[in-house]
Amino acid sequence: MHQIVGVLDFGSQYTQVIARRIRECSVYSRIYHYSTPAAQLKADGVVGIILSGGPSSVYAEDAPLPDKAIFKLGVPVLGICYGLQLMGNLLGGKVERSPRREYGHGTLKVDSAHSLFHDMPGELQVWNSHGDHLTKLPKGFERIAHTDNAPNAAIEDRRRRLFAIQFHPEVHHTDHGTRIIDNFLKRICGCTGDWSMADFIADAVQKIRDTVGDSRVILGLSGGVDSSVAAALIHRAIGDQLTCVFVDNGLLRLDERRHVTELYQRNFHLDVRVVNAGPLFLRKLKGVTDPERKRKIIGRTFVKVFEDSLRSIGEADFLAQGTLYPDVIESVAIAGNPAALIKSHHNVGGLPARMKLKLLEPLRELFKDEVRAVGTALGLPKEVVWRQPFPGPGLGVRVVGEITARRLRILREADAILHDEMMRSGWYYKVWQSFAVLVPVRTVGVMGDERTYDYVIALRVVESADAMTADWVRLPYELLRTVSSRIINEVDGANRVVLDISSKPPSTIEWE
Ligand code: XMP
Repeated sequence: MHQIVGVLDFGSQYTQVIARRIRECSVYSRIYHYSTPAAQLKADGVVGIILSGGPSSVYAEDAPLPDKAIFKLGVPVLGICYGLQLMGNLLGGKVERSPRREYGHGTLKVDSAHSLFHDMPGELQVWNSHGDHLTKLPKGFERIAHTDNAPNAAIEDRRRRLFAIQFHPEVHHTDHGTRIIDNFLKRICGCTGDWSMADFIADAVQKIRDTVGDSRVILGLSGGVDSSVAAALIHRAIGDQLTCVFVDNGLLRLDERRHVTELYQRNFHLDVRVVNAGPLFLRKLKGVTDPERKRKIIGRTFVKVFEDSLRSIGEADFLAQGTLYPDVIESVAIAGNPAALIKSHHNVGGLPARMKLKLLEPLRELFKDEVRAVGTALGLPKEVVWRQPFPGPGLGVRVVGEITARRLRILREADAILHDEMMRSGWYYKVWQSFAVLVPVRTVGVMGDERTYDYVIALRVVESADAMTADWVRLPYELLRTVSSRIINEVDGANRVVLDISSKPPSTIEWE
């Protein structure tokens, strides 16, 4: 049994990031509702408690409050932001609204470096987001760091082992933030740091078994990182109770269907049902040129094909998805703000409600790099674990304008050449995405003595951290030259290659 650190969630957008930082310190954490009774935390054996930030003000009428007995459990407590104000307020200090909201960077000056700030510089750039200040310390506390605006930016009661900080150590913009959390865990809570992704897998396997029992689970396998890792993890837990459905929508890349069936059916012995729906998709897309209409048709057809395929598989109780934590945030953001919708992303979000299936999302708390670590630990090959993202509508949004079988064939061949050369030169894993786009414009060329009048292929190669912003990659000219001449010589129907040198924003990564 691993040591558990409890994170009480007061509604901060960063609660999951705190949990993630704790995992980075090789410690197991569990997120609890803020009102969880101290007795429950004690029964679970938590060795430390972190109070997350939150949007409220401690003196608001409906401010979320913890069970006060947590401060008497005898385990160390660290309050972050709202957590600091809570401690101040509940333990007899004074919290007041400050004249101006502190938001963004600040310089923290460390007054005492023996506990949280052990082994780090005396001045740190920290990230703040708060409107309230602790103006009077509760009894027993002393300050251990300050900023120009906040005299009590970090405080501690050494005897009771209670700590609180005004800034957010979990966000990247705070220098040594993970180190501060690590100091709390290892130096103060006495965590040994022996938890690893293998433990995550063991736990997840057990949870999946407990949840699923002897029911059947269906998973839509796309071949991308998330659905592949979810499939491998669930398969490890329940074996043949899992059935995967792989929909060939006719918009896949060259040999993609063969790769997926070889890997998952042959190597991993997963039950993968391949649905060949290419002709249906192409019929529905015939004559359609508007990007949003194409996306909607592809999305709707996918749902229909998927549902039909389930009928032939028979009874299932669960629909599994490779939802990650960032997807959870993104869908909330989009639901709350329709204006945020630039392109209608295609996913199976609406499926479970319609099909009365329960959701199984074993990766829901993880971030992308953690999912990759899980995939690697499960034995998935590098080509899957480090695969570039591929949009749900596939080549449908990379054949600009009307989609025809011929255009798809041309794009597929050109894209395969780019992929091949990116792999060969080692660039594939260094970039976020690299793909070809068919531009439905024909230009004049000359092949031997013959005039040609063929399509333009654009190369789109971008670097990005999260797809929200992106820049075009400065690939070596030699590599570009090889790709271009191979495409023009080898692909019948393309006689010109151009390079997309637009950044996002104002462009987007995909062309449609
Ligand atoms: P854009 O083109 O909006 O793309 O800059 C941002 C990232 O999202 C991917 N993308 C999609 N992914 N379903 C997906 O699962 C979609 O419909 C979709 N559209 C774009 C795109 O490849 C890029 O990584």
